[in-house]
This record gives sequence, C-alpha cells and structure tokens, in this order.
Amino acid sequence: MSSKLKQPNQNTWLYTDIVKDHFFNPRNVQYDEPRDNKFNGKGTVGSPVCGDMMTMWIKVDEIDEKIKKCTWKTFGCASAIASTSILSEMVTKNGGMKITDAMKITPKDIIKELGGLPARKIHCSVLGDQALRAAIENYRKSA
Ligand code: FES
Repeated sequence: MSSKLKQPNQNTWLYTDIVKDHFFNPRNVQYDEPRDNKFNGKGTVGSPVCGDMMTMWIKVDEIDEKIKKCTWKTFGCASAIASTSILSEMVTKNGGMKITDAMKITPKDIIKELGGLPARKIHCSVLGDQALRAAIENYRKSA
C-alpha cells in the first residue's frame, strides 16, 4: 500500500484510528430513555441525506451555562457514532463548554477532531451537530 492511501481523502473509505476508536468504544451513549431530571435539554434530528436519526440529551448548569453531561443515541452509521461520541467529549471536557460556545461548533470542527472522515460520510457528522443545537434550543426554551 502506498503511503498516499494511508490518509483519508476525498476518494477513499479509510477511517482514522480516532474514528475507529470512537466507533468501537463510543463514549456517553444513552441506551435507555433517561429517567428523572438527569437532563434539561433534549434534541432529536433526522438526516435528510440518509434518513438516520439522532437524539441527544444534555445537562446544562443553570448558573454557568456549561454542559455538564451529554449523552446520545442514534440509528446512524459508524461515522455518525464516532462523530457524536467525540462531540460529546468536546462539549463536556474541562468542566463543560458554555452553550454559547457549543452553538458555534461545526461539522468541520468535529471532523478535525476525528482526524478526518471520508468525503461520502461528512453528512453523518451533521447529525450530532444538529442534535446538539436542538438540545440547546430545548434547554433555552425550558430554562
Ligand atoms: Fe446515515 Fe451516516 S449514513 S448517519
């Protein structure tokens, strides 16, 4: 294999080690509907490209407006799982990201954290991004 083929690019289906790690060991997955008041924001979105779905739950600290918890469930593909897994870490690390900053995250930022995604799978990273925005909007409406 030539070294050129080792890096994901527009014409390959190769996944980075970071993508594979988050796909095989997804972080912050929510397997069941959460009970009680563990979360104060929820967003569900579907992809117009593939029809897959994503639901995300967030717990926002009402004092500092930082995201303390972020869990998710999807019927999406490996790329959607990896993208949302790493997104859930991005918004909760170091005590949590302020919701105003989290709203500025783009699929491009997520893909950069993953070390790249095959071009055909870029739409999959949009699912988590949109679900996060929907969850933040839901928190804002109910706060
Ligand atoms: Fe639907 Fe990836 S193909 S989320």
